[in-house]
Amino acid sequence: MKLWSGRFTKESDKLTEDFNASISFDSRMYREDIEGSIAHAAMLAKQGIITEGERDLIIKGLKEIREELDAGKLKFTLEAEDVHMNIETFLISKIGEVGKKLHTARSRNDQVALDIRMYLKSEIHEIRKLLLKLQETLLGLAEEHLETIMPGYTHLQKAQPVTLAHHFMAYFEMLRRDLERLDDCFKRLDYMPLGSGALAGTGFNLDREFIKEQLGFRHITRNSLDAVSDRDFAIEFCSFASILMMHMSRFSEELILWSSEEFSFVEMDDAYSTGSSIMPQKKNPDLAELVRGKTGRVFGSLVALLTVMKSLPLAYNKDMQEDKEPLFDAVDTVKKCLLVFEAMIRTARFNKVKMAAATRGGFTNATDLADYLVNKGMAFRDAHEVVGKVVLYCIENNKVLEEIDINKYKEFSGLIESDIYEYLDIFQCVARRRVPGGPAPEAVAKALEEGQNWVRRMKNALCK
Ligand code: ARG
Repeated sequence: MKLWSGRFTKESDKLTEDFNASISFDSRMYREDIEGSIAHAAMLAKQGIITEGERDLIIKGLKEIREELDAGKLKFTLEAEDVHMNIETFLISKIGEVGKKLHTARSRNDQVALDIRMYLKSEIHEIRKLLLKLQETLLGLAEEHLETIMPGYTHLQKAQPVTLAHHFMAYFEMLRRDLERLDDCFKRLDYMPLGSGALAGTGFNLDREFIKEQLGFRHITRNSLDAVSDRDFAIEFCSFASILMMHMSRFSEELILWSSEEFSFVEMDDAYSTGSSIMPQKKNPDLAELVRGKTGRVFGSLVALLTVMKSLPLAYNKDMQEDKEPLFDAVDTVKKCLLVFEAMIRTARFNKVKMAAATRGGFTNATDLADYLVNKGMAFRDAHEVVGKVVLYCIENNKVLEEIDINKYKEFSGLIESDIYEYLDIFQCVARRRVPGGPAPEAVAKALEEGQNWVRRMKNALCK
């Protein structure tokens, strides 16, 4: 029999039961649901709404149900619809009449809002750890490659020399913003909704602060209508997750490109690559491709949630049951991607020789030649023009800038002297870019230190 069958004269159609049920996915929140119910029962007794004896029976029953569920000894049923009513049904069949008192002054609407918030809070703790781990790995790699020269690109055309460390640190910065967004999302998640009832609170004298304390929330929600119909936190989480995945997809794209024979900047470890069923020579960067591919489903979750919530009138509407699958999928996907990406990048081998060779061909030091002329008194726009002509000469004569004879240089500009060769040295070009935020080993070493300190602080401040 359904917990709500009183006003019905007919059984639900099987189709209705199947379509309406959420147990197949919301069962993942059973531990949160039970913890919330334990706190609720404790509060009901404290307020004299149930007796202490009733409270003890309810709490003991709930704990046993939790153990049995953990051990796989209890089976959820479709008939009981969702995780909340499944557990309540288990309780009533375990402890009898007293079990029917648990749902006093509570609705599934505030209950589900509580469960999702509790679930997401604990997942955010996990994701935060994974994110910081990836950041630490990037810092380690940057430290190792402070002097590894590589071409920096714009339009995927070689532009100016940078270092691999600087490139890693660019991703470190993206992930730093991601972590800040996650912490910001957590702040608004940390509100306890129980006591909002179905939509209009309750006439019982509840102690919401007590439940808040019991469940480790920082605040209580401030408006019952909003509390039961708010899913902003899920949308914010999926926004965070989408931006993070977008960042990882960019990095993945580069790693895939760099793994090609044409680039050969990186080789993934065998443990984190796959082969082809037909082509024996192949070693594919599938993990990076999958991270890139899975980015789409996380964006999908965000759009699904926004669309579910769009135009919904206050307060709870059943549409909102559609919040869980996209949210859960985003959580699972992000966790897996962070885990895989960290292992993949940590074990990858970066080919310094190839990177340096690629930096030398392709006029990545052309801007430096122009800067050289500026230092000798020429206006930048004129210097740009002169160097353009020098590059054209090089292309026509199959040379790089370092190979032009000094006499030939003098034909382009009398300002050029024999110190030009040292000036054009790729390593010098990078070392000169010492400006804060620049790629010089000196500047990146400072960024690295700041990053290390930041990670240390963030590890100590878990979701504050
Ligand atoms: N399974 C429901 C959900 O996930 C729980 C809340 C149901 N409330 C209701 N009034 N039907 O949203």
